[in-house]
Amino acid sequence: MIIESQKHLFDIPEDISYLNNAYMSPLMHRVVKAMEAGMSGKIRPWTYTAQDFFTPVERGRELAAQIYGTQGDNIAIVPSASYGLQIAANALPIAAGKSVIVLEDQFPSNIYPWQDKIRRQGGRLMIVPSPKDDDWTQALLTAINSETAIVAIPQTHWASGATIDLARIRTALDEVGGALALDLTQSLGAQPFDMASIRPDFAVSATYKWLMGPYSLGFLYIDPKWHGAEPLEHNWINRAGSEDFAGLTRYRAEFQPGARRFDMGEKSNASQLMGANAAMEQILDWGIDNIAETLRHKTDMVVDGLSQEEITPVAANLRAPHYLGLRFAQGIPEGLMQRLADQNIYISIRGSAMRVTPHLYSTEADISRLIHALNDI
Ligand SMILES: Cc1ncc(COP(=O)(O)O)c(C=O)c1O
Repeated sequence: MIIESQKHLFDIPEDISYLNNAYMSPLMHRVVKAMEAGMSGKIRPWTYTAQDFFTPVERGRELAAQIYGTQGDNIAIVPSASYGLQIAANALPIAAGKSVIVLEDQFPSNIYPWQDKIRRQGGRLMIVPSPKDDDWTQALLTAINSETAIVAIPQTHWASGATIDLARIRTALDEVGGALALDLTQSLGAQPFDMASIRPDFAVSATYKWLMGPYSLGFLYIDPKWHGAEPLEHNWINRAGSEDFAGLTRYRAEFQPGARRFDMGEKSNASQLMGANAAMEQILDWGIDNIAETLRHKTDMVVDGLSQEEITPVAANLRAPHYLGLRFAQGIPEGLMQRLADQNIYISIRGSAMRVTPHLYSTEADISRLIHALNDI
């Protein structure tokens, strides 16, 4: 179902065409209200109970689990994608002679933990070169072999918007006994994710892009078979019995159940969590299939409107619904981003691609304005 414009839910002036959700989503009015409500306990701490350290956290875990298609017990609260990927890198084994596969020009949060792991433990990093036709799935299937220990990739490439058929990667990994670690920061919340067929070992998403929440928060999915791994830090609230504040110095070796042992320290930031929760409730109300269908319609409108042969989009069957990468035959024109910003049109440039990433706040007028501006260049 195509969802009509939801611009009224955001604080975006009429003359601003913000087509840059991949950079950072704007906060909805209801998210700002929830964040303000979350702050009230810190303004009047005598109203803030021990239970308040847990309730918004558990609600966030449940909502994130619904978006991932799993149970709350498999979700850890993290501050960033990089924190989650570091937990994955620490937990997943690598034997001598084995490799970790990543994509060329992948986002650094999903590169540095693997480089560091290999430096400490051996193995090698195998970088799949950018396929000329944007078919990353085929390129990965060719790269995966009996030496593959881990594939650490996104669902959608952050620069071009080219997407990967993760279920096929999972099947190939099953044959060689490899693990799958995913950075879903540029897809979760806007692109359907089928947990049953993809079965990642670890998957993480920061909340400030397609989960439409605040900065400095993310949700990490951990397959139950890794629930016994080492957390990144040892904080009091992740230990069993931490609900009893008076008894905290009866130090405990056992952890809270499931993926809770991996939660970050000071996870109980009520303002941040209540904001993220309000955003996830809205996303679930819209429905991710509907969001994807609507954003596909908007990104297709851009492609259909372009009259310049100079500009080529990633092929329709390989691009993610919410994320349009455009390439220019002669390279990105000098000062393009600024020239568009001067007309109140906001996009971003990463690598050799211009990213057009609308959301439900983007109107047909916004899309037309971009098309006219590009056709005038
Ligand atoms: C693919 C991808 N992953 C992760 C991030 C953010 O990483 P972190 O949460 O580690 O700051 C970004 C930000 O642009 C991104 O594009």
